[in-house]
Amino acid sequence: MELTTSSNIKVVTAKESKINSVDFENLTFGNVFTDHMLVCDYHDGAWDQPVIMPYESFTMDPSSRVFHYGQAIFEGMKAYKDDNDDVWLFRPDQNFERFNKSAVRLAMPEVPEEVFLGGLHKLLEVEKDWVKKGKGNTLYIRPFMIATGQGVIASPSNEYRFCVILSPAKAYYSGEVKVVIADHYSRAANGGIGAAKAAGNYSGQFYPTKLANEKGFQQVIWTDDATHTKLEEAGTMNVFFRINDTLYTAPTSERILDGVTRKSIVELAPTLGINVEVRPVLVSEIVEAAKNGTLKEIFGAGTAAVVNPIAGFSYQDTYYELPKLENSFAAIIKEKLTNIQHKLDTDTFGWTV
Ligand code: COI
Repeated sequence: MELTTSSNIKVVTAKESKINSVDFENLTFGNVFTDHMLVCDYHDGAWDQPVIMPYESFTMDPSSRVFHYGQAIFEGMKAYKDDNDDVWLFRPDQNFERFNKSAVRLAMPEVPEEVFLGGLHKLLEVEKDWVKKGKGNTLYIRPFMIATGQGVIASPSNEYRFCVILSPAKAYYSGEVKVVIADHYSRAANGGIGAAKAAGNYSGQFYPTKLANEKGFQQVIWTDDATHTKLEEAGTMNVFFRINDTLYTAPTSERILDGVTRKSIVELAPTLGINVEVRPVLVSEIVEAAKNGTLKEIFGAGTAAVVNPIAGFSYQDTYYELPKLENSFAAIIKEKLTNIQHKLDTDTFGWTV
């Protein structure tokens, strides 16, 4: 499948490229950005012409709504390069749809397809040298929208900026990930913004995650806010549990992000002979399974980390170590998914664009 590009995009190229100063072998996730970005402003009820321009700071009024009320949403996507130098995206339509769902929930204007997908296509054409070949090399794509309208009155802005920045990326996590199961703090609540990719969902995690870090854990597994008995997400990712030979993950809800990697795994795993059940997963059954040895794996799934195995979890001050498996489901699924993304295996799903 090919994305269509819009000719209605202005391109202002950077005088010099910084690509030769980048050490592509030693990248810290999300720290280096490419030469250009896509910018499109919204005012008076309409979107301007999108512009691809040199990556640079922008000036905003200190009273801009985003600074005061956090009216901000984003997406996470990746581009991959195959051996023929073609650049591929993975299910970009899903990110586009979710972005606009997030926009609606945060009382922001929806972004037209020709701006989001057409603009991204054009930006990737301009920045194709930043997408490196080889498995493990990706270009992380960060579309976002912020409220730029002035005034500290607590109501939706009438001006917005949509922007796409690109960052060459390798792994998200380095080293083991151990998690704490939340029994007090929550990521989301019914009727809230948990299903939107809203900036506030992430900043709200920072403090409980910092407390977990201080105890030697990298992430928090979020539970339902009302009872803290159901396992919902892991840090910034969806989460899967393997008990015996079945994988379990919670159904998406008002509290859980409809992750593209999550839904792809739910479809992909059965084709690899792995049984998946989408149903609420209880803290009590995971603790019990860890005690009786039937809990084999826990892994997070998201665009940035793809599939990230969890080494062990703590619940109410007791730590449960997970077995180190040779042929883990996490490894099998990650291998297949990244092969599809990098065009090393046939994409029978039609996910790559
Ligand atoms: C993702 O994995 O899709 C994310 O959104 C992670 C991001 C917060 C770095």
